[in-house]
Amino acid sequence: MNDDLQKRIQEALANPQNMGELAGADAVGTVGNADCGEMLRLWVKFKEEDGRKIIDRATFQSFGCETAIAVASLATELIRGKTAREALALKTEELAGDLGPLPPMKIHCAQLVEGALRAALEPQKTGLDPAPSAPTAPSLADSFSKSGEPRRIVFLTPEDDTH
Ligand code: FES
Repeated sequence: MNDDLQKRIQEALANPQNMGELAGADAVGTVGNADCGEMLRLWVKFKEEDGRKIIDRATFQSFGCETAIAVASLATELIRGKTAREALALKTEELAGDLGPLPPMKIHCAQLVEGALRAALEPQKTGLDPAPSAPTAPSLADSFSKSGEPRRIVFLTPEDDTH
């Protein structure tokens, strides 16, 4: 990883935005990467504005690497005010925002964030049930300490890496 990218990641990590569970969320998506073992959960809350249903707030929890956390921080800011359709139209590199182009070995970190967003906003395509009780969805840490939750975690496959 080049020094510039490392610096931008460190800047994003110095003041990470939107970390933690989101009370009253309307949707939640959890994904994991079986290769590196990282996991990320993303909560989304909508609001109505001018007759449009837009993302009011999005938050995340991560057992991910620094790059995934930095991308999640930027992406959760970026999707605010967008409709679900607009948020889903964002490309992986757009979600990484100011981090700029990621090296090949780090692209999957941004795809982890993209996957969590898709799992939350279009659960039918990721094979997940819509978040049945997002407001009381357990934290990512809870998912590891309790059994009975593994079906809610999507492990991204190489096919998913084509987004
Ligand atoms: Fe796998 Fe970053 S190294 S998500």
